[in-house]
Amino acid sequence: MHGSPDCELSSRSEAMAPNINSTLPLLLLFLLFTLHLSSVSAWKKEEFRTCNQTPFCKRARSRKPHSSSLFATDVAILNGALTANLRQPPPESPDQDQIKPLLFTLSVYQNGVVRVKIDEDPSLGPPKKRFEVPDVILPEFESTKLWLQRFQTETVDGDSGPSSVVHVADGYEAVLRHNPFEVYVREKQGKRRVLSLNSHGLFDFEQLRVKQEGDDWEERFKGHTDVRPYGPQSISFDVSFFDADFVYGIPEHASSFALRPTRGPGVDDSEPYRLFNLDVFEFIHDSPFGLYGSIPFMLGHGKARGTSGFFWLNAAEMQIDVLGSGWDAESGILLPESGSRIDTLWMSEAGIVDTFFFIGPGPKDVVRQYTSVTGMPAMPQLFSTAYHQCRWNYRDEEDVENIDSKFDEHDIPYDVLWLDIEHTDGKRYFTWDRVLFPNPEQMQNKLAAKGRHMVTIVDPHIKRDESFHLHKEATSKGYYVKDATGKDYDGWCWPGSSSYLDMLNPEIRSWWSEKFSLKHYVGSTPWLYIWNDMNEPSVFNGPEVTMPRDALHYGGVEHRELHNAYGYYFHMATSDGLVKRGDGKDRPFVLSRAFFSGSQRHGAVWTGDNTADWDQLRVSVPMILTLGLTGMTFSGADVGGYFGNPETELLVRWYQLGAYYPFFRAHAHQDTKRREPWLFGDRNTELMRDAIHTRYALLPYFYTLFREANTSGVPVMRPLWMEFPSDKATFSNDEAFMVGNSLLVQGIYTERAKYASVYLPGGQSWYDLRTGIIYKGGTTHKLEVSEETIPAFHRAGTIIPRKDRYRRSSTQMANDPYTLVIALNSSHAAEGELYIDNGKSFEFKQGAYIHRHFVFSDGKVTSSSLVPKASKTLFSSACVIERIIVLGHSSGPKKALIEPSNRKAEIEVGPLWLQRGKSAPVLTIRRPNVPVADDWTIKIL
Ligand code: NOJ
Repeated sequence: MHGSPDCELSSRSEAMAPNINSTLPLLLLFLLFTLHLSSVSAWKKEEFRTCNQTPFCKRARSRKPHSSSLFATDVAILNGALTANLRQPPPESPDQDQIKPLLFTLSVYQNGVVRVKIDEDPSLGPPKKRFEVPDVILPEFESTKLWLQRFQTETVDGDSGPSSVVHVADGYEAVLRHNPFEVYVREKQGKRRVLSLNSHGLFDFEQLRVKQEGDDWEERFKGHTDVRPYGPQSISFDVSFFDADFVYGIPEHASSFALRPTRGPGVDDSEPYRLFNLDVFEFIHDSPFGLYGSIPFMLGHGKARGTSGFFWLNAAEMQIDVLGSGWDAESGILLPESGSRIDTLWMSEAGIVDTFFFIGPGPKDVVRQYTSVTGMPAMPQLFSTAYHQCRWNYRDEEDVENIDSKFDEHDIPYDVLWLDIEHTDGKRYFTWDRVLFPNPEQMQNKLAAKGRHMVTIVDPHIKRDESFHLHKEATSKGYYVKDATGKDYDGWCWPGSSSYLDMLNPEIRSWWSEKFSLKHYVGSTPWLYIWNDMNEPSVFNGPEVTMPRDALHYGGVEHRELHNAYGYYFHMATSDGLVKRGDGKDRPFVLSRAFFSGSQRHGAVWTGDNTADWDQLRVSVPMILTLGLTGMTFSGADVGGYFGNPETELLVRWYQLGAYYPFFRAHAHQDTKRREPWLFGDRNTELMRDAIHTRYALLPYFYTLFREANTSGVPVMRPLWMEFPSDKATFSNDEAFMVGNSLLVQGIYTERAKYASVYLPGGQSWYDLRTGIIYKGGTTHKLEVSEETIPAFHRAGTIIPRKDRYRRSSTQMANDPYTLVIALNSSHAAEGELYIDNGKSFEFKQGAYIHRHFVFSDGKVTSSSLVPKASKTLFSSACVIERIIVLGHSSGPKKALIEPSNRKAEIEVGPLWLQRGKSAPVLTIRRPNVPVADDWTIKIL
């Protein structure tokens, strides 16, 4: 039963709400209760189910290794894939269920991707088709399928039946072992396994049934009942990563980057990593508990072989155990190779098996393989890669104007000002509170005059108010998600009683996307972009603060089957709306809280409602690294911490770290004190300004990295091991990270820190970003730290492009000249790239961009184009390079010769330009003023 008369207490204090039948006095009582709670509440564990309280999870976890008796029969090649039936021996007694054969398909794709699907056989009459998540896999992925012609058979030692083997890619093959059923990818030479499924016989597939008399399938939790009309329908299996020292991925959890074992000897009573999109009030900083988004993609990495990946396309609740070594001791059966294998157990409440094996072997190969299936991260508009200022809430137009002018007064650049839910007329999205915001267009135009933008919030819950046009229209068109009885589902969120659009339906998404046109969204301008929040979806009086699992979507899909992708579809429709608004010309910007595999195509995400404390500052790094590794490179955490009031030192350290997040936004809860960068005294303003300036100087580098992500899936912010895959010391380091291949950043996560231990990997040296002082790689340095900056290093052998003039916004920097910083390695060489386009439109897709390759060797720096030769130039820039800094150049030449113009430029040896205080002497070529778009060479004489 839904909307039970007893009010469910939400875990969100400010959201405590009665159900729709409640009376006003009850509401007032609740508000009082709420006010009281907001000062004392924290994460309320008991609001959420544990694995033990989740029947499918409990069942799967209790199964013993090798309890699956499935075997493969009828192996054949069909439609270019290897197919089989998976059967079970006949039951021993007649009252045991006989499972119907399952259909198995293994397909091979270009570049080392193997897809394995297992589903019920539609010809055997299951009561309904199980849900296969549409719209996530790129349509073009199918065209990379390698049409299998044949398979070979071989007999693995001790097996009674054969195994079927197909070719995958250079040096790899996929094996279907018939009995016991197992599937794995291995190296051709030496037959070493890479990844396997069901090696431990934990596979289980609960088939849909028709309810018989006496079947009680209902599940109850905290006063909510889930009618479960199709009975248990979960799937679980084990996956092993061979030669892996650690596994990573499967966001979103606030926990370590390298995933910790959740079961096995020495692991106490841990929950599995949960993937179930939830609005978790005051989440804690170290827990496998599932947060706002889910990406069921895991990577294994080890020194011995490299990297591999496993992705399960399934949007139902998932729980994943990482099994510590020795977990299966009781079975007494060992795998043929046990090596440094990591076993995992994957459990999902519904859906089908649709899994992808990525063979790597490098970390960048695996992310490329994963994004070849789910899509490359969208290329953002340049402004959105700069600094964003947000709070719940900037009150009114005067407040907005005041904040905006204070940034100028304090010489701090920023690009975007955000308006949270209070700007609306009673939480009716697409409307304005006309008392507080009487002239929204004018307000946005004023910002735009300084090259700035605005973002407003648009959440998925629609206020059930007969006079609200959106609600009227959605009701009359039947566009809402239905409850289990078929009525429009009615839940409680910010506006009170609300309904939720059924975003699974493409027609509804298209209708929604029209609402962002300048005509429909009254008061909007082309400078306005969008924030999608609460799209898990958050339902304050729903089970676990979300929608009931038996709610119904388009095509009879149960919410349980779709849950983790609901926010994905909402994000997609909103992002399409912004594209339509600009007639398909301009790139959208939409920040979403909920996400799923593929969300990287639609925009940015952030890590939700963190807290202003040091632990949360620290955990932001593994959280963002994990997002990047699983496709979502455009991500960040609320700078300053959302809940609570950060001490000044914490706030400053957060700016210093946040300046390197791919998405850099300060945000705060409405109950917190104002904390804009000028409110903490001149010195602290200076420190925060400096952090923001650093980001602005590095924007050309960041933008180049976003383009790299857009073409290869390789994230902007990377774990150290992505650049140094065989350096074991980096594998579990989640305090430091790389920005691209050239910058290493180490956060400071404690107050009054005097020293930091920084591990600098590799055989090359590193230059302190500020001072140019050189440090040896392959060792840990104990470094003195000051309040001025967090440690950041420029890797020898690389070149970083910068823009060193500060303006009000990134837009105003468009015509500014560049600085190149060349960090020489021990062979006196370096290289780097710079990508430039108009920062806004999709024209780059037609080739309207500049992409330069800079190389330093033999005492000269050369610029050449990486753009494939086109008949005409589609994008040009009049910008020049005004300064070239060479780190690690010891001699003191006087001049540089520029070719082809045959001009000379001055050379100066002095302190590093950005630096204050101590510095190594560096060589600077002054005013070479070479056009950034041209080929040239500059020789140091
Ligand atoms: C929850 C979001 O996570 C937070 O960022 C926002 O300020 C509030 N909702 C209010 O919209």
